[in-house]
Amino acid sequence: MNIGRDSMTKLINGKEIAQNLRNELKNEINNLRSKTGKVPGLAVVQVGNVAASSVYVKAKTKSAKEVGIDVIDHHLPEKTTEKELLEVVDTLNNQNNVNGILVQLPLPKHINEQVVLDSIHHDKDADGFHPLNVGKLSVASHNDENLLIPCTPYGCLIMLKGLGINLSGKDAVIIGRSNIVGKPMAQLLLKESCTVTIAHSKTQNLKEVCSNADIVVAAVGRPEMVKGSWIKNGAVVIDVGINRIEINVNGEKKNKLVGDVDFVEAEKNASAITPVPFGVGPMTIACLLRNTMIAFKNAQKI
Ligand code: GUN
Repeated sequence: MNIGRDSMTKLINGKEIAQNLRNELKNEINNLRSKTGKVPGLAVVQVGNVAASSVYVKAKTKSAKEVGIDVIDHHLPEKTTEKELLEVVDTLNNQNNVNGILVQLPLPKHINEQVVLDSIHHDKDADGFHPLNVGKLSVASHNDENLLIPCTPYGCLIMLKGLGINLSGKDAVIIGRSNIVGKPMAQLLLKESCTVTIAHSKTQNLKEVCSNADIVVAAVGRPEMVKGSWIKNGAVVIDVGINRIEINVNGEKKNKLVGDVDFVEAEKNASAITPVPFGVGPMTIACLLRNTMIAFKNAQKI
């Protein structure tokens, strides 16, 4: 099945789509403030100082404030115990001005991530990682409007829908089976009536599996692992990877961000593709803000 390749590959501009989404959220939050006298509150919890986490937390905090969300920051030391972190979450669960709670992952090794994620009240689950919300997403009859959906895959879906293609019946291959991206992405695409394959590190003949796909979502965390020759002519490619690699520029070592897909080669076959950076990344943040607003509306019974 060919999705309808244009003469030129379309670059999916996540930065612009996310900006539009944030503008809509800002307007809606403004209206909600007029109506209720309140604004959504997001608690952002970081434990330790993993450099990438600090970058993400800063970006999330800045974007939240820009759309009118109140941010409650909790930056805890690396040595924080699981018990201490659970106490912080418990306090936030009971705080009326907090509608969404985000605990940035990864957590230090001595803390069990799932225990912490399970402890966040499901109504305040800004990431959509709580088992109850994971379950609701997999039950097709639930209305997406009120659901707290994992941010990265939801951002990918918005970008796919923005292409105006009919997703129903398309062959979608998701590479990566994480709880954060791969599994919820599969649920979202199933809801759109795609035929979904989840490939992963043990998949045999990954090239062959990919080359039949109308839609490829790459979320493996391995720089440029998906080769251009794996992409069917006219397929849509969503690259979730953000990998920092070292390159040599005129004898000087420089850092460069690349995705999980060999962009230069894949672009030649794809009908549409996301760049790295400015593809999926900004969408993840915009969807976190969306979840926070939904949690607020649910709490206010709006
Ligand atoms: N670490 C990497 N991605 C995410 C995310 O979407 N949410 C949280 N909480 N941590 C992450």
